[in-house]
Amino acid sequence: MALTFDTRYPAIEDLRNKAKQNIPRFAFEYLDGGCNEDINLHRNTTELRDVQLKPQYIKEYDQSSIKTKLFGVEYDAPVGVAPVGLQGLMWPNSPEILAKAAFKHNLPFILSTVTTSSIERISELTEGKAWFQLYHPAENRLRDDIINRAAAAECPVLVILCDVPTFGFRPRDIRNGLAMPPKMSVQNIMQILGKPNWALQTLKHGQPNFETLKPYMPKGLDLKQLGKFMDQTFSGRLNAEKIKPIRDMWKGKLVLKGVASLEDTEQAIKLGLDGIIVSNHGGRQLDAGESTIKPLKSIADTYGDQIEVMVDSGLRSGPDIARAMASGAKFTFMGRTFMYGTAALGAKGGDHTMSLLKVQLQQIMEQLCCERVTDLPQHLI
Ligand SMILES: Cc1cc2nc3c(=O)[nH]c(=O)nc-3n(C[C@H](O)[C@H](O)[C@H](O)COP(=O)(O)O)c2cc1C
Repeated sequence: MALTFDTRYPAIEDLRNKAKQNIPRFAFEYLDGGCNEDINLHRNTTELRDVQLKPQYIKEYDQSSIKTKLFGVEYDAPVGVAPVGLQGLMWPNSPEILAKAAFKHNLPFILSTVTTSSIERISELTEGKAWFQLYHPAENRLRDDIINRAAAAECPVLVILCDVPTFGFRPRDIRNGLAMPPKMSVQNIMQILGKPNWALQTLKHGQPNFETLKPYMPKGLDLKQLGKFMDQTFSGRLNAEKIKPIRDMWKGKLVLKGVASLEDTEQAIKLGLDGIIVSNHGGRQLDAGESTIKPLKSIADTYGDQIEVMVDSGLRSGPDIARAMASGAKFTFMGRTFMYGTAALGAKGGDHTMSLLKVQLQQIMEQLCCERVTDLPQHLI
């Protein structure tokens, strides 16, 4: 097995620990936390790891490949970068770092509406391969403008989000002044002073901005006005009436993210979506909700032949990808995992994390004697 990553960090937990050392506490807690009491956050990983796989050692076996086809594209592995807002706050330039790494590793990268790089910049870096996640704007004019920009940037897949009908209740962010409206406190400034490398890099790259939204924002907003702008500009609650015009407009693949039930999957099929991401936003929205691995199997068993079923929330390793694929997912995404990578290792973080996950997944495939990722369900116990 060729170890194509920095061998000081062979586990995602190593990256998480290093990230915690590297960046100010308010930024780490924004990334790391769930909501309310963090029950759903922990349940995602714990219940996923209850999934067990059986090997089949004595059988005809040639070699394992982790290449995976999705929406007619062959990716190098069944894992992509989930959309994450405010990435530049955790580490400057994170969206560019991860998009470039995803391009190099031939994996999908999803750009969030509210992150710190623009649709156009990321499209340029990925030669039009990056996907885009749309937060639903309150005004149709803005919605249409952003969708037209994504189309002009040749974005192949538009992801719309249904699991933020209201902003998650996140005690750490409230304490740290990162809830809406944000505020910068003396404690935050002290935390920044304690992380000189982060502060230097941030100074070098400039204050992170919502680059995709810049054309629509009045100039020189202070933090308080920014909160008001975000509140007025986006209306998170999605319904069939809001999805229909998007389906009519968008000629590429359309994916609904945040699905956690058979009912919403059925609706997605009726509305003509091409895929769903079974997701609970990494446990950041509904603390009383199920882990994503719980509904995944029944959703995939019931509707997997009518719509592409993908999953995220709680995955932190190659074996986790295998567990999710064995449970019926066609593809997986990770949010925090890749951000731990950049917050820990800066410009090398994307490449390292992707290499590490690929090696881990390849290893478990060979251990199971499983030749193709689509055969993983045969190994589910
Ligand atoms: C800090 C942070 C910000 C996020 N911002 C967004 C966002 O802007 N849009 C979105 O669709 N999902 C967002 N998510 C959810 C991720 O896309 C993904 O569903 C989640 O991170 C998966 O869980 P994991 O972090 O355990 O892999 C965010 C997640 C985190 C951790």
